[in-house]
Amino acid sequence: MNNLKDIISKKQVNGLKGVITIPPDKSISHRSLIFGALCEGKIKISNFSFAQDCRATLEIVKALGCGVVFSDERLLILTSPKTLCAPSKTLDCGNSGTSMRLLAGLLSGYNFKSILTGDKSLSKRPMKRVIEPLSLMGAKIKSNDFKAPLEITGGKLNPIEYFSPISSAQVKSCILLAGVNTIGETTVCEKTLSRNHSERMFEYLGANIQTGHSENGFYTKIQKSKLIPKDIEIAGDISSAAFFMVMAAIVPNSEIIIKNVGINLTRTGILDVFDKMNVTYEILDKKTVSNEEVADIKVLYSPDLKGCDISGDIIPRLIDELPVIAVLAAAADGQTVVKNAQDLRNKESDRISSLACGLKKIGIDIVETDDGFIINGDKNNFLGNVELDTYFDHRLAMSFFVAGLLCKNEILIKDFNWVNTSFPEFLKLFTKISA
Ligand code: S3P
Repeated sequence: MNNLKDIISKKQVNGLKGVITIPPDKSISHRSLIFGALCEGKIKISNFSFAQDCRATLEIVKALGCGVVFSDERLLILTSPKTLCAPSKTLDCGNSGTSMRLLAGLLSGYNFKSILTGDKSLSKRPMKRVIEPLSLMGAKIKSNDFKAPLEITGGKLNPIEYFSPISSAQVKSCILLAGVNTIGETTVCEKTLSRNHSERMFEYLGANIQTGHSENGFYTKIQKSKLIPKDIEIAGDISSAAFFMVMAAIVPNSEIIIKNVGINLTRTGILDVFDKMNVTYEILDKKTVSNEEVADIKVLYSPDLKGCDISGDIIPRLIDELPVIAVLAAAADGQTVVKNAQDLRNKESDRISSLACGLKKIGIDIVETDDGFIINGDKNNFLGNVELDTYFDHRLAMSFFVAGLLCKNEILIKDFNWVNTSFPEFLKLFTKISA
């Protein structure tokens, strides 16, 4: 756990070298608990993420009647009751949008009242995207002008066919979690495919689910299903690996191997960007665990980086990696243009403006646009000698840290402990490869 509030990031004169294992996937960890809560019986979840976001979901499934026992650092046994019970307290999702949006779907199918709250950042994030489809299904949801707290009175729902106006895995998963408790067929459709961990986990646990593509986009259909309790092993998080992958690509003489990373195609947009930008990397030792592909990723220092265009269908496949991809673009020759990423404004912070603000202070040539940013890359622009805010945003904190490794002068990053949201071991792993 990282308890340091303000930290310094500075130029890395030696290459970064070593073999590391990054934390378990946050998206899959949340789902293992929420889907596990629907499997009447006992399941073993190995390589579970104990980052703060996932701990919030853990406390909530406990409040709904699940039993949780830890047998070692990353292994937990979840025992789920016949039916979830009404919580006796407010359910606190902390900083986690995934917890709030997925649990809203789950809770809508139960005949009791529950209240989901969040921290300052989560309370500003849009919830209309889940309130609207769940209300169409018959759930009663009170909110603070479509923001948290959400007071949900669930019950018997009716199936819907819903075209999601945004390609969001949280919205899709929310509707599927309501649909799995609804008699009839619930369909959710999105224009471009967002991460499909929910579809894969439902399939793995034996739900009646079908996915496909039609002229309207990508659809998923689910019927009321009883899930079969099965052990789940969680892959490493490519979104956390991304920080170390970019460090290796930009710091001269680096060579890093990251073990056991999830390489589900709906998450590997960063590797397509690496191809376009001339990053040297290899995918080693591919295998499948609990219906998800996993591999080791080796990344080498890449001296001939060049800018590229990033837009369209690739955006949902790298949405969380865009802040650190911006740092890569800043170290590349030429221009990088990111478009169609307007939902970045609805993350833990408005990631377009907070990123542009921080990188500009460092010296980087970045221009904010409505739905993305334009960067004119040049390693000489990494000046530093600034203090940067983190805006309650773990991914910004880590992206600024990566930028600091190329800066002529040190940078001070405030409130760095926000990294605990997803990656408490970040500094410890950095020490391992920079020693
Ligand atoms: C997530 C989906 C993404 C992502 C978030 C995790 C998930 O959000 O940004 O960090 O686990 O489903 P959206 O679905 O809102 O794009």
